Amino acid sequence: MKATVSSLRQARQIRQVFGPVLERLEEVDGFFVREFERAQPMVRDVATYVLGSGGKRLRPAFVLLVSRMLGYTGERDVRYGAVVEMIHTATLIHDDIIDESDLRRGQPTANNTWGNQTTVLVGDWLYTRTMDLCLELGDVDVMRLLTSATLRMTEGEILADQVRGRLDVDESTYMDITQRKTAELFSAACAIPALFQPATLHLTERLLEFGRNVGISFQLVDDLLDFTAARSDLGKPVMADLREGRATLPIILLLPKLSRHNRERLGEVVSRGVFDAISEDEVLDMVRTSGVLDEVRRRAQEFASRAAEQADAFPRGFERDALIQASEMLLDRGV
Ligand code: IPE
Ligand code: IPE
Ligand code: MG
Ligand code: MG
Repeated sequence: MKATVSSLRQARQIRQVFGPVLERLEEVDGFFVREFERAQPMVRDVATYVLGSGGKRLRPAFVLLVSRMLGYTGERDVRYGAVVEMIHTATLIHDDIIDESDLRRGQPTANNTWGNQTTVLVGDWLYTRTMDLCLELGDVDVMRLLTSATLRMTEGEILADQVRGRLDVDESTYMDITQRKTAELFSAACAIPALFQPATLHLTERLLEFGRNVGISFQLVDDLLDFTAARSDLGKPVMADLREGRATLPIILLLPKLSRHNRERLGEVVSRGVFDAISEDEVLDMVRTSGVLDEVRRRAQEFASRAAEQADAFPRGFERDALIQASEMLLDRGV
């Protein structure tokens, strides 16, 4: 992705927070190289393109950091770091097909480059291969956690699709979608390392809850960035959610503050995907002056704080501090 001042600052912050595991993160990338070298050529090309396009690698970073915090010294952290990133990648490429997105991480999406058919199949391959990678080591408990997270993510995307085009999405439906489509994978990423050793099994629930709170906070910020970020920073179009028919939390909170006339004009954008009843600038102005962005930010902060509370029960040390810092840093990110 094209580097901007903001994305460089972002990259530096991420490197600082995840400093203790940066070398292991490189091994996760090495794992992908080996994995796709021997894959079917189309899978290799598409997966290499998407995985090489500059994702933040947040989910593997959480796997590695938690593993280290729990004193794990084997090789499963790299394997399952790669596995969660493969699931994330499969979800993103399917999400871009569903959303008909052309741009991600500042580059043409896989569907834009190879078409929907090929891309959907590569996504299926990635999902299935992750299950294989669990079975190779007989890690059925890790697989159970990941299949459950993936099922809930898929249900989240289905639910999101069902309310697409509608303005009358209530907050609890929005939160349900958010928890499923995004928080489940963060939750699994944080809890998997507890399963590596019998002595850390008792931390599984806490880690699941920590990751869930980080994930919800993360998605709230993603929905904010759709209104606040510059296109050059975000690497994907801004104001895309409304154009894709998605009423996210800023819009849900804005609605009761609007006149009936303006609600109807906004309804046109969401149901038809074009800004002709009302301009992008006018919507942006309404969102920015209404105070809803501050409210969404406040809620994202609250979920980050809940994550920090869960971390109280984790083993003390710089890894635990880094986990808390990570949840705070993700609030201030620009991408
Ligand atoms: C994007 O996730 C999808 C959401 C859950 C909002 P990331 O922002 O972690 O994506 P990359 O991998 O860094 O591009
Ligand atoms: C997150 O939702 C995608 C998944 C977790 C499936 P978004 O639709 O908000 O993600 P972006 O904005 O396309 O990255
Ligand atoms: Mg999307
Ligand atoms: Mg989004």
